Amino acid sequence: MWTCRAGFESHLFEELAWAGASPRMLGEVLVESETRPSEPPVFARTGIRVLTSLPSEQNLDPMAGALAERILDTLPKGMLVLQSFTPDSPEGNRLADEADALLEAVRARLPADRLLEETWRAREAGATLVELCVAPGVVMMGEVPAREALSLSPGGRQRMRRGADSPSRAAMKLEEALVNLPFEPGRGEVCVDLGAAPGGWTQRLVARGARVIAVDPAKLMPELAHHPRVEHVQESAFAYTPEEPVDWLCCDMAWRPLEVAQLLAKWGRRDWATHLVANIKLPMKDKNPLLLRVRHILTEEGGWQGLTMRQLYHDRDEVTVTAHRGQ
Ligand SMILES: C[S@@+](CC[C@H](N)C(=O)[O-])C[C@H]1O[C@@H](n2cnc3c(N)ncnc32)[C@H](O)[C@@H]1O
Repeated sequence: MWTCRAGFESHLFEELAWAGASPRMLGEVLVESETRPSEPPVFARTGIRVLTSLPSEQNLDPMAGALAERILDTLPKGMLVLQSFTPDSPEGNRLADEADALLEAVRARLPADRLLEETWRAREAGATLVELCVAPGVVMMGEVPAREALSLSPGGRQRMRRGADSPSRAAMKLEEALVNLPFEPGRGEVCVDLGAAPGGWTQRLVARGARVIAVDPAKLMPELAHHPRVEHVQESAFAYTPEEPVDWLCCDMAWRPLEVAQLLAKWGRRDWATHLVANIKLPMKDKNPLLLRVRHILTEEGGWQGLTMRQLYHDRDEVTVTAHRGQ
């Protein structure tokens, strides 16, 4: 069972159908499929293999104990990270208290040494992520090995904090993308930030110790424009050429996706950057055919490797791509 952003069910369904995974709409923001495709679906926030599905009442409190007992019977073995979530829709979000109550009821029945509390360690510890999904009329319990999980956050809602001094909400997209990478831009590295204004991404890169070349015809917030590790190149990203190869190419340009993909492919072909994090805007109705073309341009024409393409929790009508060159 997969969860997605509200309104994106049909895109997720289409992807799963194209992958031959035999999808079925379960309800708002929930889609199930018979098999798991080899490529993680772009529009899925998270996915679990459902082990138990039980009907439930609107008021789950009196039933929580009985449901927990039945869930315990099918719980996977080994070290577990136990979480609950509700579908991210107005109707689903009203069940948040019920989801908490069920989580507590299951937790209380498990020996403490079965549960890994530090979720961030789940992958290295080889734990299994167990999610209790409390949806209107049904409770589902499912599992996914943490190493294969699309997200370690309940329901794939990886909330990043927006810094008080952040000039835009865009920075949270970069932070979320970096959470999922094994390495991140750091001290002494050089990042080019295409479409940088007003400076949310640039600010986060500078805070990590990197030097940033911010390319955008629009203005950066003054603190960044005068920062010793920021160079503002006030021109179009399509006209810009780096003086020497850089470590990170970051791109959040509000521009046509195929043209942005061609530009990123040019950077790849010319080995102008080692790592890529890019946000691709998708205002059009038919998103999947376009994403196939973007993927093709980046990998076949640009030579970018290890490509990931996901609609992250903080992405709206857009997806985030990560990739790297060579090695
Ligand atoms: C979503 S905003 C970027 C937000 C930024 N990442 C942040 O965190 O503050 C999109 C930016 O793309 C820029 N943009 C659009 N076309 C561009 C181009 N051809 N070259 C450079 N920047 C461009 C716009 O000026 C705008 O500032």
